[in-house]
Amino acid sequence: MTDTHAVEIGDRWQPFDLSCFCVPKHYENDLEQVLIPHGIIQDRIERLARDIFQELGQGPLTALCVLKGGYKFFSDLMDKINQLNCNQGQKSIPVSIDFIRLKSYENDQSSGLIKIVGSDNLSSLKGRNVLIVEDIIDTGRTMKKLLNTLQQYEPKSVRVASLLVKRREDNNGDVCYMPEYAGFIVPDKFLVGYALDFNEYFRDLNHICVISQAGMKKYRK
Ligand code: HPA
Ligand code: MG
Repeated sequence: MTDTHAVEIGDRWQPFDLSCFCVPKHYENDLEQVLIPHGIIQDRIERLARDIFQELGQGPLTALCVLKGGYKFFSDLMDKINQLNCNQGQKSIPVSIDFIRLKSYENDQSSGLIKIVGSDNLSSLKGRNVLIVEDIIDTGRTMKKLLNTLQQYEPKSVRVASLLVKRREDNNGDVCYMPEYAGFIVPDKFLVGYALDFNEYFRDLNHICVISQAGMKKYRK
């Protein structure tokens, strides 16, 4: 496999002025800046799809979407993989899909496991190549628990694609976990849009944006 590489959005990256892009009117005062415009997200996903397609073996793939935040990335990534399957090249990979939600076990921080809900039947992962599709990796704890939990279903292989990976200030400004496929490495700021939410708001925003203080206040529970 190729070394993991991703678009690094460094601390000196110049975000885009909100007034230069279309955002829903109901969020106009709730956002600071556009960090990654929708078009750039699409272009990056096109390349991720190509990398994934090229590096997969011939066997069928099960793509697991981690809801809710992963749904847009999942949908666009699958579209682009499906396009590659239509290219009449040598290679074509049958893809099945499933959707999961994750719930932490209450009163148990130490089990190393996480509760997976909503899937059809995870036993079907046995012997399959699995691709986990996630919106953002932050502390990496959830992903490590998910990988650990999936082992009991005996998949043939498991790889992770995350659109965003956060550099954490409490980790020397470094990422805590690097997946096999990463779209963008992003600064330690709270990001919304393209299905990433703050208390269920902002999923209906196409660009990945930095939330404003006013937005935090307005939608805080
Ligand atoms: N935005 C939305 N959800 C998240 C984030 C973020 O920046 N980090 C971890 N979950
Ligand atoms: Mg997520």
